[in-house]
Amino acid sequence: MRLLSFRLIVSLIVGITLVSLAFSYNEVRVEKRGLRKDLEHRAEVLAESLAGNIEPRLEKESQRQLQRIVEQFGNREHLDGVAVYDTHGTLLAVTPGLKQLITEQPPVVAQAVATNHGSGQFVHLAGKPFHIYAVPLQQHDAVVGGLAIVHDASYINLQSARIWRETFLRTLVQVFLIALITLLIVRWSIVGPIAKAAQWMKALRTGKGSLGTPTPDLDLLRPLAREVETFAASLVAARSAAETEAQLREAAETVWTAERLSVHVRSRLGDSRLVVVSNREPYSHIHKGKSLEVVVPPSGLVTALEPILRACDGTWVAHGSGDGDQETVDRRDCLRVPPDDPRYTLRRVWLSKEQEEGYYFGFANEGLWPLCHIAHTRPIFRASDWEHYRAVNQKFADAVLEEMADFEQPMLLAQDYHFALLPRLVKQKRPDARVAIFWHIPWPNPEAFGICPWQRELVNGLLGADLVGFHIQAHCNNFLETVDRTLESRIDWEHFTVTREDRRTVVKPFPISVDFREASPPREESAYVERVNLLRELGVSAEFLGVGVDRVDYTKGILERFLAIEHFLDKHPMYQGKFAFIQIGAPSRTHIKRYHDLLGEVEAEADRINWRFQHDSWRPIVLLQRQHSHQEIQRFYRAADLCLVTSLHDGMNLVAKEFLAAREDEQGVLILSGFTGAARELRDALIVNPYDIGQTAEAIRLALELPSEERRDRMQRMRKVVKENNVYRWAGNLIAELCDVRVEPEHLEAGAGYD
Ligand code: G6P
Repeated sequence: MRLLSFRLIVSLIVGITLVSLAFSYNEVRVEKRGLRKDLEHRAEVLAESLAGNIEPRLEKESQRQLQRIVEQFGNREHLDGVAVYDTHGTLLAVTPGLKQLITEQPPVVAQAVATNHGSGQFVHLAGKPFHIYAVPLQQHDAVVGGLAIVHDASYINLQSARIWRETFLRTLVQVFLIALITLLIVRWSIVGPIAKAAQWMKALRTGKGSLGTPTPDLDLLRPLAREVETFAASLVAARSAAETEAQLREAAETVWTAERLSVHVRSRLGDSRLVVVSNREPYSHIHKGKSLEVVVPPSGLVTALEPILRACDGTWVAHGSGDGDQETVDRRDCLRVPPDDPRYTLRRVWLSKEQEEGYYFGFANEGLWPLCHIAHTRPIFRASDWEHYRAVNQKFADAVLEEMADFEQPMLLAQDYHFALLPRLVKQKRPDARVAIFWHIPWPNPEAFGICPWQRELVNGLLGADLVGFHIQAHCNNFLETVDRTLESRIDWEHFTVTREDRRTVVKPFPISVDFREASPPREESAYVERVNLLRELGVSAEFLGVGVDRVDYTKGILERFLAIEHFLDKHPMYQGKFAFIQIGAPSRTHIKRYHDLLGEVEAEADRINWRFQHDSWRPIVLLQRQHSHQEIQRFYRAADLCLVTSLHDGMNLVAKEFLAAREDEQGVLILSGFTGAARELRDALIVNPYDIGQTAEAIRLALELPSEERRDRMQRMRKVVKENNVYRWAGNLIAELCDVRVEPEHLEAGAGYD
């Protein structure tokens, strides 16, 4: 670092000195030229006026009078004297001081006499610089002599010397200041931050620090800081993965990890390609003012699929819905994501406004969503929406086929109710592809599904897949019964397969989950401290805290939850002033009237209940209607005494599992709707019927009064379930099942079977 400072300082000093010298040299030249011109001009004016005085007297006056006139002119500024010569160069009169200096006629006088023209010259006399200006003296138009005006020019050199002196002093001060500033900047912005970063990285390397430790402020090296942060994260992740693996080996456990999934997927895929298709993209680019922000949407599906794509560097095909999405893709509509640590390819598909309206808002979300969720919102089926749904499925299928083009036996994981037709469209063109579709929402009973005018087409499209996955067995059964009622096929209830036109489709449950990472358990009081801080930030006082995290969707039972809180406070007034509930509600699909209205209804209901009970700085419901990042939500999970999941119907519900994964302190109680897929696995939650307001209210009381030991036992058991059945196991099982499908090479008949 000393060498750097030395080089910097020397370079700056040399640079500044050269620049100062160049400027000063120019200044001196200009100044000298100006002073010389000025002197020449003055000498000319003086010579002409003096010649005018001398000429009439040359004839009649004696030499003494001439001498007197000459002496009168001897005491002007810088003027050393004057001398008068005749045409032969004989001195006629001279200022006394000049006598010793000019012993013979200066050549410039002879030249003026000869040419009858005034002229000047700078000369050195007795080692000093002088300026002599000579004019011819005339009488009756004839030259009769010459007049010399002699100025002392040494002041011009003195002036130049002054400029050089000032330059030297100025450069000296500048050099000193620059050296000082350079040293300080190097110390503050380079040496200091690097030392801090080195310490920070050493702490991470030696395991004495954690990623929670904030990145040191690296000042100028900030871009490097971001890279270092990613690097440190990978280091910490690698270390913790290695530790986890070692622990698992030690305990002979078979927990799935990202690394295990990665090895598994790569070994099963070989040289082939994994393509995922979903409507929602994992990253969208949105304009915020002048900048382009990366947004991760609130979708359980995105949370679950990201680790698989990261693990095997596949391609994710999705709708490019962000207003800045087109600006960030290449010619093939692709980009590498995650933006700060690219691991896989995202291919965006563009939809027109009409297509989005008909396929996404219309058929998928006003038709299929309420059809599959029994939540008493009537599905709407429009023929025009269906046409768009078909066209968009074809469009996505084309994109998927393009992505698969260069690979043999590629693997496709299609996602959700947006793409019921896509499996068959792909399989028709690529019989060698292994195709699975995972249906993330419930599948209702055949009577309920039967009201869809296009149920045959939907079921037929789905049966194009080799594997159809649901979260729970009940949804598989409903699907198989629907197939039975709608299409000609053979159903094997023992192996849960459907055979139609010689093609076999397996229907199996794969309960989706979250990424469960075991960190060192926090201290006992950490939830309390987190709660105090959170409530202070929100300006609310309370002793007990509940939390709910949802997209604002009518299937989530948010209004029922609020009614249960109201009922709880009515029945147990001792909790008034003490229990507050934070509802994080991410606005969703607000273009649909039912969703738009729901936002208002949720807000109005929270207001009504708050108005009834609130006093001082306490209110029972704190409604935060905006999307929160994963990190932000973690704080709420960790601070809460209880988490309320009261969906009226839900395929799985990952909020319940995220809450459990976040509770490293093994505290907190989960109140869970029995109508969620998660309720099948999480038997230690307080299971409620969300329509039964009284029962949910009672569950809230029970959760708050449950003995600490029981809370811990329940939490431990549920965390074990989520840990063992994490998202990596979900993905691993899904992929393993799909890999077991026997597919035929393209040239053979497209009659694939199942081993
Ligand atoms: C559910 C669906 C997902 C969907 C998510 C968010 O979880 O199963 O497919 O992505 O809701 O909804 P959105 O319409 O915003 O994608």
